[in-house]
Amino acid sequence: MALYSEKVMDHFTNPRNVGVIEDADGVGEVGNARCGDIMKIYLKISNGIIEDVKFKTFGCGSAIASSSMATEMIKGKPLCEALELTNKAVAEALDGLPAHKMHCSVLAEEAIRSAIKNYYDKNGIEYDKSQFPEPHGEEEEQHFEEE
Ligand code: FES
Repeated sequence: MALYSEKVMDHFTNPRNVGVIEDADGVGEVGNARCGDIMKIYLKISNGIIEDVKFKTFGCGSAIASSSMATEMIKGKPLCEALELTNKAVAEALDGLPAHKMHCSVLAEEAIRSAIKNYYDKNGIEYDKSQFPEPHGEEEEQHFEEE
């Protein structure tokens, strides 16, 4: 059996929603300290709905496929639904990831959560802090250089 599903290969070779939203309402950036991969998510939000989402991932194929799939899954959805997106759901939507690549899908979940938190913080919107656990790997925070 192939290591990667057709869906993973499709989203890796033809990723959806790649790019930057210049006037994003929320931006989230997370990294995995162990592998060094970084993911950044941009959200355009209107009336609590994610109207547009873009991502930039400096990382492995599974991280790119996960970000692509995750952005498709939250586009047009209310924030409360996007907050419930788990890395498991992303991996399932990709028809699975190899066990040693599951951590790549965690980046997508954490980047979305971080972008929503950024939106709440910027707009002074109250939220339940328990919904925003510290992304893992944050202690060795890494940053994208904006071009
Ligand atoms: Fe780092 Fe996939 S190996 S996110």
